[in-house]
Amino acid sequence: MIKKGLILAGGLGTRMSPLTKAVNKQLLPIYDKPLIYYPLSVLMLAGIKDVLIIVNKGQLSQFRKILSNGERFGIKIKFIEQNSPRGLPDAFILGEKFIGKDNIALILGDNFFYAQSLTKKLKECIKLSNGCKVLLHPVNFPELYGVATLNKNKKVISLKEKPKKSKSNLAVTGLYFFDNKVINYSKSLKPSKRKELEIIDLLNKYKKNNKLKAEFLGRGGAWLDTGSIDDFYNTSAFVSALENRQGLKIACLEEIAFNNKWIDKKKISESINFYGNCLYSKYLKKILNK
Ligand code: G1P
Repeated sequence: MIKKGLILAGGLGTRMSPLTKAVNKQLLPIYDKPLIYYPLSVLMLAGIKDVLIIVNKGQLSQFRKILSNGERFGIKIKFIEQNSPRGLPDAFILGEKFIGKDNIALILGDNFFYAQSLTKKLKECIKLSNGCKVLLHPVNFPELYGVATLNKNKKVISLKEKPKKSKSNLAVTGLYFFDNKVINYSKSLKPSKRKELEIIDLLNKYKKNNKLKAEFLGRGGAWLDTGSIDDFYNTSAFVSALENRQGLKIACLEEIAFNNKWIDKKKISESINFYGNCLYSKYLKKILNK
């Protein structure tokens, strides 16, 4: 059972400069809330209450200002600063103390998920006792991602990082579930040509030992990019269209916490005070009046 989660929220966001010169990408808006709310909501929907967020050196106070220690959402959030980005598996080396002897989930700070049965799927994934699990989803441009090729039995037969050509259109999304071996495996990785530790190399270690499993988000689900300025606008438009049509918010952390019975209405009132007079608070007020 996985009870702890890591969010990798570092990175320079160079593709989005000048927006990212003063503010970390994960704090920029996807429609009505900072990007970081979305990956954090995924961990919370999975039932994870113990979270470590890895941020760039010097940006910790920005994140603390909005997330604090997680108390507003009935969870525990710790932060750790990264001197410079050394690749995704570095998260497990930096997070070694936090992980301890437990299994761990990792979500990339810029990944956006939305799907009908997402919570159910996540609850299945956190049952992992050994090995690792990845979540796959079809994309139009697989060359931009880690790509998995499956055999007829839906077993992963190959994993490649940003292959120039691939017959498969299944991207490895930025949500991963690992057993505790991940720490030692990460330590044993050698930097790639781009001088980073690669998540695909880490996953291939599990695959080699027959310990890699794949789960599918399904065609009705959305896994959206937030890598470029256009992605930010498109994902924002997606959230805006759904939220305004349904009157329900995606990634309202207080709502998820309330539904999970992690916070009570008093805590929601405190959040309303914290946010001030805004649409997000208006939404929270609706929960108070239920
Ligand atoms: C990283 C991983 C890649 C994965 C992607 C998901 O890519 O290296 O395997 O498919 O995240 O968002 P990057 O964002 O570093 O290009």
